[in-house]
Amino acid sequence: MEKKSGDAGRKLSRGDFLRIGGGGLAGAALLGAAGCGGGSSSGGSGSGGPVNITVAFGREASGTLAQLIKEFNKQNGGKIKVTWRHMPSDTGQYFNQIQTEFQAQKTNIDLIGGDVIWPAQLAANGWILDLSDRFTESEQKKFLPGPIQSMTWQGKIWGVPWFTDAGMLYYRKDLLAKSGYKNPPKTWDELKSMAEKITKEQGIQNGFVFQGDKYEGGVCDAMEYIWTNGGNVLKDYNTNTVVVGQPPAIQGIATERSMVTSGVAPQAVATYQEPQTEPVFLGGKAVFARNWPYMYGLASQYKMKPSQIGLAPIPVSGNNETASTLGGWNFYISALSDKSKQDAAYKFIQFMTSPENEKKFAIKGGYLPTLSALYKDKELLNKVPTMRNSAAISHTHPRPVSPYYSDMSLKMQEQFNDSLKGTESPKQAADTLQKQLTQIIKQGKNA
Ligand code: GLC
Repeated sequence: MEKKSGDAGRKLSRGDFLRIGGGGLAGAALLGAAGCGGGSSSGGSGSGGPVNITVAFGREASGTLAQLIKEFNKQNGGKIKVTWRHMPSDTGQYFNQIQTEFQAQKTNIDLIGGDVIWPAQLAANGWILDLSDRFTESEQKKFLPGPIQSMTWQGKIWGVPWFTDAGMLYYRKDLLAKSGYKNPPKTWDELKSMAEKITKEQGIQNGFVFQGDKYEGGVCDAMEYIWTNGGNVLKDYNTNTVVVGQPPAIQGIATERSMVTSGVAPQAVATYQEPQTEPVFLGGKAVFARNWPYMYGLASQYKMKPSQIGLAPIPVSGNNETASTLGGWNFYISALSDKSKQDAAYKFIQFMTSPENEKKFAIKGGYLPTLSALYKDKELLNKVPTMRNSAAISHTHPRPVSPYYSDMSLKMQEQFNDSLKGTESPKQAADTLQKQLTQIIKQGKNA
C-alpha cells in the first residue's frame, strides 16, 4: 500500500540515541528484556483472580471498541479482564501523557492503542516490548505492508497493526449532481470552482472543511497539500535532507492557505480537528471535507444517507499524483508491565486483529482493516465503501519514522497553522521550517 520507502529500518546513530534524552536511555537500560513491572495495574499472576490489564486508547465515537472489549472479557471470564483507560483524542496530548508516565516509570497502562507515528520514540526509550518473537515474520505477512513498515524500527517489530488510515476526500454526491457534476474534482482548482458554484446555487454554508488546527492532524493535512504539489518535507524518509523550503512545498502550503483566502473554506478551519469536521460535513453544512475513513461510519448518527456521500482520492495541483497521509493505530505492549500482563495483552491483540473482529470494527465502526485478505472480502467491500477508495489507500505516504519526530511535528504544527491563519506567508512558514527541521536533525546527530 505504501508508495514511498520510509526510513523504517534506519539505524540510530549514537548521537540520535543520546538526543532522545538520558532519562529514557537510563530507563531502557534498567528495564532489560523482561521489563520491571513498575507501577502496573493490580491483579497479576498468582493472585487467583483474573489478570487485569489496562488498555489505553482515545476517542472511538461508534461504540464498537467498548463492545469488543465486553465480548473479550466475556470470552475470557475469570482469566483476563481488560479495562479501557480513555485517553485524549488529540494524538499529541495522548502522547504527552504517556511520555510523562513512562518517563516517571509510573503508569497503569499495559497496552497502548497508539498512533502509527509513535513506535520509534517509544522503542528508543525502552517503553515498549520488541514483539519480534511473538509477532513473527509469517504473521506479519498477513498485514498490509505500509503499517508493518512504520512499526519496524532498527530491524525489529514494535507493534501489531490494528486499523489503518488514509486521508480521503468526502463529497456530497447529491449536491454535486444537482449542480450538474458527475464526478468529484481531480484537482484543487476544480474543487474550488465546484465548491464556489454549489455553495452559491444551493445555499450551502461551506465549500470545503479540513483539519488545520495547530496539532498533529494539521501536519497530516498540510503534508497532503505539499505532496500533491510535488513537494516534500524531507527529501525521502531515508534521508535527513530537509526540502520543505523548496518551491513545490511552498506551493503546497500556499494551496492550503488559498482555500481560506478564496472563501472556499471558512477561516475557522485553522482551529478544526477531526471532531469539528464531522458535524459540519455530516450535518449538511459543507460540500467537501477531508477526513479519515472513520467519519463514514458516523453518517447515520447525523441522519446523512450513505447514498449522499461520495469518496475520492485527495485532489492534486496540475499533473501531480494523489497522496494521502498514512495514519492508523496499533497495539504496543508496555515494557513496564509484568510478564503475565504482557501475555494477556498479546491475547487481546490477537482477538482484536483476528479477521472476524477487524471485520466487525470495519463494518460497525468504519475503520480500515490492516489484514490484507480482508480487502478481497466482498461483504466487507460492499458494506464499507471507504475500502473501495483504493487510489487513496494505495497512495499513502508515511510521516518521518524518527525518535525525534514529535519535536519535528511541533514545529510543523506551528508553521503550517501560522500560514493557514495568515499571520505568516507560506514562504515565510516554509523558510522558518526549513531552518528549524535542519536544526533538530543536526542536534540529533551531534548529541
Ligand atoms: C488519525 C490518524 C493518526 C493521526 C491523527 C491526527 O487518528 O490515524 O495517524 O496522527 O489522525 O489527528
